[in-house]
Amino acid sequence: MVDPTANILTVIPKHIAVIMDGNGRWATSRGLVRSEGHAAGARSVRMLVEECRRRGVRYLTLFSFSTENWNRPALEVEFLMKLFEHHLKSELELMTRNEIRLRVIGDLSKLPKSTLKVVNEVTTATQHFTKMDLVLAVSYGGREEILNACRKFSCAVRDGATTPEKLDENLFRTFLYAPEVPDPDLLIRTSDEARISNFLLWQLAYSELVISKVLWPDFDRTEFDRCLAEFAGRERRFGLTDDQVDGVDSAAQTASQ
Ligand code: IPE
Ligand code: IPE
Ligand code: MG
Repeated sequence: MVDPTANILTVIPKHIAVIMDGNGRWATSRGLVRSEGHAAGARSVRMLVEECRRRGVRYLTLFSFSTENWNRPALEVEFLMKLFEHHLKSELELMTRNEIRLRVIGDLSKLPKSTLKVVNEVTTATQHFTKMDLVLAVSYGGREEILNACRKFSCAVRDGATTPEKLDENLFRTFLYAPEVPDPDLLIRTSDEARISNFLLWQLAYSELVISKVLWPDFDRTEFDRCLAEFAGRERRFGLTDDQVDGVDSAAQTASQ
């Protein structure tokens, strides 16, 4: 149960990741075409970026387009790329005003040239900002990211820069797309779907998952607050017992029994 009195301001996650799902259903339920759902979804992105910045969330990662989404109808893919380009350009002002750095992760070699150009322009224009990182996962797949890291690690071994024995979680992380971004504390998925869909497979190992019933274009401040309150009511245990998490000395407790 979510405690509505939880003081969400005290437990703002450092990193929130979002699977923004349900644009198509939002459109078809209104007799609109899917692209209109995607356009409406872009408004929720703006709201969320501004809210995260206002509340002091340091990293926000948004799943914008997956490696599997390339298999959608060509016209939808084309529309999504154009929409992405358009919004990156138009949100540069918002990012500059709020001192937000843009990062884009994924297999960018698959992006149309014009999209890649805008990605590079906005990334460069915002690279010196330090208030918040907005990470957009585009042409992104968690398995592909892990494979790509394995390729880079193998090359490092081949070139004599490291050895297989040195490989641990910390070293492996350095080969991921954005090694300096910490793992998400909270993953929100909208439209009542409870799956990861190949998002951040490595990084989500200990994230809290919050499923929102709301379709992405309807995701507003109230629903974001509800998700934050649900997160605030969770106990993150990282494999420990609840006594350990609460800082109770369980050895002393056992001895006194
Ligand atoms: C999410 O909405 C946007 C992308 C995956 C690009 P969908 O387009 O998946 O919407 P539904 O799931 O069909 O409703
Ligand atoms: C996940 O949504 C990808 C993005 C939100 C960009 P999908 O709609 O593609 O995922 P599935 O197909 O329902 O698993
Ligand atoms: Mg979907």
